[in-house]
Amino acid sequence: MNGFDRRRFLELGGAAGAALAAGGLTAGPGWASPAQRSRFTGHPFALGVASGDPLPSGVVLWTRLAPEPLAEDGSGGMRGRGVVPVRWEVAEDERFSRRVAHGVSNATPELGHSVHVEVDTLRPDREYFYRFRVGGEISPVGRTRTAPEAGANLDRLAFAFVSCQNYPAGYYTAHRHLADEDLRAVVHLGDYIYEGGATGSLGRAHAPAREVVSLADYRIRHAQYRTDADLQRSHAAFPWIVTWDDHEVENNYADEISQHEGVAPRDFLVRRAAAYQAYYEHLPLRRSSVPTGPDMRIYRRLRFGTLAEFNVLDGRQYRSDQVDRNSPEAQDPDRSMLGAEQERWLLDGLGASTARWNILAQQTVMARADRDPGEGLRLPMDNWNGYEPARQRLFDGVVERGVDNMVVITGDAHCSMAADLKQDFADPDSRTVGAEFLGTSISSGGDGADMDRRGEQWLAANPHMKFYNQRRGYVRCTVDRDSYRADYRVVPYVTRRGAPVSTLAGFVVENGRPGVQEA
Ligand SMILES: [Fe+2]
Repeated sequence: MNGFDRRRFLELGGAAGAALAAGGLTAGPGWASPAQRSRFTGHPFALGVASGDPLPSGVVLWTRLAPEPLAEDGSGGMRGRGVVPVRWEVAEDERFSRRVAHGVSNATPELGHSVHVEVDTLRPDREYFYRFRVGGEISPVGRTRTAPEAGANLDRLAFAFVSCQNYPAGYYTAHRHLADEDLRAVVHLGDYIYEGGATGSLGRAHAPAREVVSLADYRIRHAQYRTDADLQRSHAAFPWIVTWDDHEVENNYADEISQHEGVAPRDFLVRRAAAYQAYYEHLPLRRSSVPTGPDMRIYRRLRFGTLAEFNVLDGRQYRSDQVDRNSPEAQDPDRSMLGAEQERWLLDGLGASTARWNILAQQTVMARADRDPGEGLRLPMDNWNGYEPARQRLFDGVVERGVDNMVVITGDAHCSMAADLKQDFADPDSRTVGAEFLGTSISSGGDGADMDRRGEQWLAANPHMKFYNQRRGYVRCTVDRDSYRADYRVVPYVTRRGAPVSTLAGFVVENGRPGVQEA
């Protein structure tokens, strides 16, 4: 991290460091007189800071003013505040002596007093530091990094991907360790929050203490998650690239269809609009993702020079409803996981890509995941296994277009798995069209185990699967021109604090040789 003092940064990055930051970092140009007393009932930056979606010219900077994160009206303690101007600045050093960009962004009650700044005057492939100020209060400091120029021959890209951070289920120790890695970015593949009213047994009961439905509810839930110091640290350490899965709205929903029978699509869309808006408000997304009613465009493409391109997918908003396992409808070619428009966008983009590695950052398991080790097939229906014709279109499209080096990264399943993606899963000798790395949860499911019944069944029934584990953690990916390496980083427990992290297994995809090999 070129001359960067990690310990000092981490002191400043966590929630507990906020007071230190306010006292110790006020001497930057233009910010020399923070004498004004706080007008807030608490620290307005209690949710920390974040950055996201790195481009060569800049990143999105995020914060949300929430002096009382769990205020019952969902306002974060900002009720009656109106529009609040928030100053932001970006510097080349963590003490802000070399400031390179600054401005003012309005936090509005309409968007929960969140702040999304799209800085676009930065230099490519550079590390920067950023912070916010409102009144006399200064935020924790975040660190970020711009992407290299589109044509740059980046020789190495390290990032990590995560998913499924159920708050009552465990501590975010994995995020704490993640923040200490040397990465360019973090990719979050969904289940950023969970919508239920679980209490758990760790003193991390969900707020509010009920399933969230309204905008106020979702705001409180997001704010609660964001008070976690380890999550804040992870956000403050790297730019994030995020997409959602189901629990940001409701378990197993599909487009306008609730998992519960009898909920009218019109009513479900009201809930979806609330959930999407709260999601936008709490994550470092660009203006292109500002929701319009129940719709929000989150699928997008991000590029790291000629080395890697991320196709960030949305497998929830446009999908056809789940069907029963043996129903003939399951093979209906009109059923879609991504929706026709996104599917076309994806294949067009993959066909046109000049990147060495084509990464699909997406929600649910893509490889065949049969649980019947015998002759039959027992497939889950909420992931790509319930959308076989759509998966086949994707794989055939990839082969037709000669797409090289496709790597799919996946969340949702709360376990680690690595698999070859076969053009015909029924035939182990068929062409391998790509690799899938499934990453485990941060905390969902509690401590976990090295093996469970599903893992035994998967490994017995699916010859394309190479590995299974059910501990918690994240996946660190290190990509260069010759290979894509995935290291499964796990913690032995999440129901107590302080777990160490270790590398459980490593897998490699070689350039031009699709499929997963043990490292
Ligand atoms: Fe999950």
